[in-house]
Amino acid sequence: MQTDKPFSQACENNKAPILEQLSGFFTQPGTILEIGTGTGQHAVHFASHLPHLTWQPSDHPQNDQLCMPWLDEARLPNINPPLPLDVITGDWAHLPAISGVFSANTAHIMAWEEVEAMFRGISNALPVNGIFCLYGPFSYGGRHTSPSNERFNRSLRAQAPHMGIRAIEDLRRLGESTGLVLERDVDLPANNRLLVWLLTRPSGQ
Ligand SMILES: C[S@@+](CC[C@H](N)C(=O)[O-])C[C@H]1O[C@@H](n2cnc3c(N)ncnc32)[C@H](O)[C@@H]1O
Repeated sequence: MQTDKPFSQACENNKAPILEQLSGFFTQPGTILEIGTGTGQHAVHFASHLPHLTWQPSDHPQNDQLCMPWLDEARLPNINPPLPLDVITGDWAHLPAISGVFSANTAHIMAWEEVEAMFRGISNALPVNGIFCLYGPFSYGGRHTSPSNERFNRSLRAQAPHMGIRAIEDLRRLGESTGLVLERDVDLPANNRLLVWLLTRPSGQ
């Protein structure tokens, strides 16, 4: 039964094109931390198609159990129980050792200070050459990539002024300051992108 599980139509639409990309970037066995897991649809889809990986869901402590109905139904051996992780106050030190990070549709929901904390936390948690894949809508040169993204940005700002589609230029600068270099910027359906960041130096250097 679908009815007792949280459901996102967007996740159903984007999970296949995202998986196609992730399978080319997360090629080695290891543990992938997912930040802002939400419903768990992504976690189940990616873990079931990438059995060489262990998937570690996490979310803000208000939401970290939301994914349980999907995880319980899927009963996959390579998904860990979800962890509470608020990127800004969370205890990154107690995460399991990770080899990569995935996060979808979080940067425009988080306040900019939280986005900064997410990059800093990832930079500390990833090994050198580890990859962070960030999916969502982004703006370029002060412009949105479609009228629908422009409308979406306006509706986010109207809901809460701290939310909004992030500029690639700001993210690049943040990446540079935390050792994360933008390796690839992949165009995906529905005016979304997959930003692929590579940790090029140990954190703090
Ligand atoms: C729009 S939902 C995206 C959920 C899912 N990744 C998806 O693509 O459907 C944004 C997610 O970001 C999470 N989030 C917001 N602020 C956060 C924070 N400070 N730390 C961790 N997660 C946060 C929310 O709990 C929520 O699950």
